[in-house]
Amino acid sequence: MIVSLACVLLGFGAVVWAVDGPGQSLDPNDVIAGKRLFRADDWTATGLTCLHCHADFNEKKDPDGKVRPSHSLFNAGYRTIFNKWDRKNTHSLDEAIRACSVRWLTKRQETGNIGVEPAQHHLRQLIAYLRSGDMIQEFKAKSIEPMWIDKIPSDRMLKMGDATIGFRLFRRSCEGCHPSDGTGPAPSLVRNGYSRYQIAKKIRNINNPGINGLVMPAFPLDRLSDRELINVANYVFQM
Ligand code: HEC
Ligand code: HEC
Repeated sequence: MIVSLACVLLGFGAVVWAVDGPGQSLDPNDVIAGKRLFRADDWTATGLTCLHCHADFNEKKDPDGKVRPSHSLFNAGYRTIFNKWDRKNTHSLDEAIRACSVRWLTKRQETGNIGVEPAQHHLRQLIAYLRSGDMIQEFKAKSIEPMWIDKIPSDRMLKMGDATIGFRLFRRSCEGCHPSDGTGPAPSLVRNGYSRYQIAKKIRNINNPGINGLVMPAFPLDRLSDRELINVANYVFQM
């Protein structure tokens, strides 16, 4: 009885340690492989990488001049709740990464703007990286709620933007996926022919059918404000 109780206590202790511990149980080779996968496009079918949408560093302390559509994953590996692009939550990091991979990275299926399931070893390696010492300073980091919005400013407001400010915002938030030489994972926007209204709808992902099974990720308000949207839409309109 005492022995089995001790086993239960030890077993429980080990579980808590594995979840809360500073990552000793991670295979260092997985961490290295995961770090590479995070920024490499040779394993994705769409040319997109995790780094196109998420920083893997502390954006406040070490900004790189970019504001990506989604949140930094620094300190995110041990959260208890994760936000997915479909605005639902999950308690599983595995599930959060899977959702992004199916939506944006893996080989496209015939319909629905989704891809196939990612490989198990890719998931394992990415999780190891997100939970490694490089990425974790706090174990109890709170999750960041994206401020999703389904409305765009009126036509009158959309005409009041400043394309010079918009150019800087374009460099900051769009060019990573839309370089003008056409070498990016998303089309060049030079002479794109869209109205300001259509550009604004793309940015907030309103009624967007996508292209070739891929949909541009929405920028929530906390990544691009309405004022910024108005300015960047004016720049893209006259590109
Ligand atoms: C095209 C954009 C895009 C790509 C590419 C992408 N994600 Fe995401 N990811 C999102 C969005 C949108 C969310 C939900 C909103 C948010 O947390 O910013 C999200 C959420 C997450 C979350 C939950 C974050 C939290 O704090 O709740 C994790 C973890 C995650 N992604 C990991 C990954 C990994 C790892 C990759 C690469 C394999 C990846 N994502 C690729 C857009 C993307
Ligand atoms: C994470 C990558 C990514 C980022 C960042 C991004 N886009 Fe996109 N964008 C895409 C993809 C992929 C498509 C093609 C699928 C679609 O139309 O939804 C696209 C399509 C578009 C289109 C339609 C292009 C066409 O030829 O039909 C416009 C306009 C656009 N984006 C504007 C923007 C603006 C403005 C920004 C910056 C505020 C931006 N995008 C940031 C990935 C991105």
